[in-house]
Amino acid sequence: MSEHICRKGATAVITGAASGIGAGLARRAAELGMRLVLADIDAERLQALGASLDTEVLAVPTDVTDEAAVDQLAARAWERFGGVDLLFNNAGVMATGFTWEISQRRFEHSFAVNVQGVLNGLRSFVPRLLQQGSRSHIVNTASIGGFLPSPLMSPYSATKFAVVALTESLHGELRMLDAPIGVSLLAPGPVQSGIFDDPFGDAPEQPAVRGFVEQLRGMLRENGLSPDEFAQRVFTGINEGRYWLLPQPELLDEALKARTEGILMRRDPQLPRY
Ligand SMILES: NC(=O)c1ccc[n+]([C@@H]2O[C@H](COP(=O)([O-])OP(=O)(O)OC[C@H]3O[C@@H](n4cnc5c(N)ncnc54)[C@H](O)[C@@H]3O)[C@@H](O)[C@H]2O)c1
Repeated sequence: MSEHICRKGATAVITGAASGIGAGLARRAAELGMRLVLADIDAERLQALGASLDTEVLAVPTDVTDEAAVDQLAARAWERFGGVDLLFNNAGVMATGFTWEISQRRFEHSFAVNVQGVLNGLRSFVPRLLQQGSRSHIVNTASIGGFLPSPLMSPYSATKFAVVALTESLHGELRMLDAPIGVSLLAPGPVQSGIFDDPFGDAPEQPAVRGFVEQLRGMLRENGLSPDEFAQRVFTGINEGRYWLLPQPELLDEALKARTEGILMRRDPQLPRY
């Protein structure tokens, strides 16, 4: 069996690293002795995380919606460490509300971060990884919501479905080229993080939306994995060479089966149960 991607001395790049899942991945990677390139729009929290890790860290404040900034991130990673072994396109945002009440600006922001952010990562890193020629791996973060759409968060559902689709395209393309770049689609269920800190934006206050968000916040609090436990499962999956990183299958499998059967049986969509 070839050497693990997640090994001591290898270099990992993580976007959205300053909080939640990204910070958990960074801590786990540091424990494994990996060198880290950490990116986030929140420069202060990013620096604080970087300083707390016992490994070599390059912290690069980066807005993943900015193509030039992400290209700069890649350039700095290669300049500092001479190569990249693992890329997490992890940054993401939540937006809730009734679909017709969510402003165009807010929809665009969800697409810019959750979809264009991932694409910017691929545009800047894949050509460099191909040129580098050694074994490497890319993990794109979608969500269980990328398989199971939900009311009151259509920007999130739509963008995460897009990440599921584009990651399968990417995987097929790299296999067509016989490239040494592995790909994984990561679909978290609830993980304790800041994802629901600001889900309303400029959408009007609606009791139904507030109640929905409170329910989801409660689910994260009570049933959410800690980012560190989650990160352990993710790194195990990467080292096993898995495309589908579904660390909480109990929240996906039955529901996805029911949804798929529902489509094949032409049944109307069922409201998800929270
Ligand atoms: N926590 C969950 O339950 C859960 C479930 C499914 C999927 N996810 C996905 O996991 C990923 C990480 O989310 P999280 O739960 O850790 O949330 P989080 O809010 O704790 O962390 C997201 C990080 O992304 C950063 N970010 C936001 N916009 C950015 C931008 N334009 N450029 C760079 N960084 C930016 C934030 O500053 C933050 O540090 C997201 O893609 C999210 O959709 C999370």
